[in-house]
Amino acid sequence: MTYDAEVLTSLKSDAEAIVARYPDPRSGLLPMLHLVQSIDGFVSPDGIRFCAEQLGLTPAEVSAVATFYTQYKRHPNGTYTVGVCTNTLCAIMGGDAIFDELSEHLGVGHDETTEDGAITLERVECNAACDYAPVMMVNWEFFDNQTPESAAAVADDLRAGKPVRPTRGADSVCTFKQMSRVLAGFPDGRADEGGAPGEPSLAGLRLARENDWTAPPVERAEPSPVVEPAPPVVEPAPPVVEPVETTPKHDDEDSTSSTAGSAPADGPPTTGAPGSSAERKPTTSSDVTPGDAPGAEKGEAR
Ligand code: FES
Repeated sequence: MTYDAEVLTSLKSDAEAIVARYPDPRSGLLPMLHLVQSIDGFVSPDGIRFCAEQLGLTPAEVSAVATFYTQYKRHPNGTYTVGVCTNTLCAIMGGDAIFDELSEHLGVGHDETTEDGAITLERVECNAACDYAPVMMVNWEFFDNQTPESAAAVADDLRAGKPVRPTRGADSVCTFKQMSRVLAGFPDGRADEGGAPGEPSLAGLRLARENDWTAPPVERAEPSPVVEPAPPVVEPAPPVVEPVETTPKHDDEDSTSSTAGSAPADGPPTTGAPGSSAERKPTTSSDVTPGDAPGAEKGEAR
């Protein structure tokens, strides 16, 4: 690993704090990936090895998780991730036009970073802010009801190092690395900035109250009757099979080769000869009525 001693000491201390939150260390992988992003600006090969060592995983297992979620970057991210929602509602409300404008204005496409390292542009899926469509996010802070022009102006300010203010939520936008540390579970103290819901989110509630609308009552299902477990099925005991008479031992037989009912070493006895099955006592119903056995002729000895 290329982390210097000071960074590594800090990383290990933070990793311990993450692991301590969970009964199983490997459950800390997601926040730990954000932690290494807060240092490297992406999930670096060193970051993958660090997570694997801290959590008792293989680098392959860590990579499998890191490559599944789009919030984990596999190459250096810009200082700001500008994400334009192009999911259905935002798209038809102007999201596609905003993305196209920003892409041309910044000279980058999806998941690409401007040459100055300031902005990584992304198409993002629904941010659960459809009532403010079309929505753009900068490091996961909301910029609602955007237009191509307003979005480009925000991007210009970010590249110029000017402070930008989200339209709701936090009062300012932090950097990608700062945001990653918050997502790793180390608060920056700004969680309570501007937390109240906005008018578009409350419009439905206001209309319902003005018109005395209420939701229909919830029909609850009757609880299922308690069913006593059925007693265990007891299988009938198998019929007792009496051992077949031991074939008389010939003097020239090996003492270990003689077992009940087995053929002599020089071949099976002929029908009716001593030791043949004709001398065996009946043990089953088909022995008593041999004609009942499949394929047997009535009266044939078996
Ligand atoms: S579709 Fe854009 S926030 Fe939901």
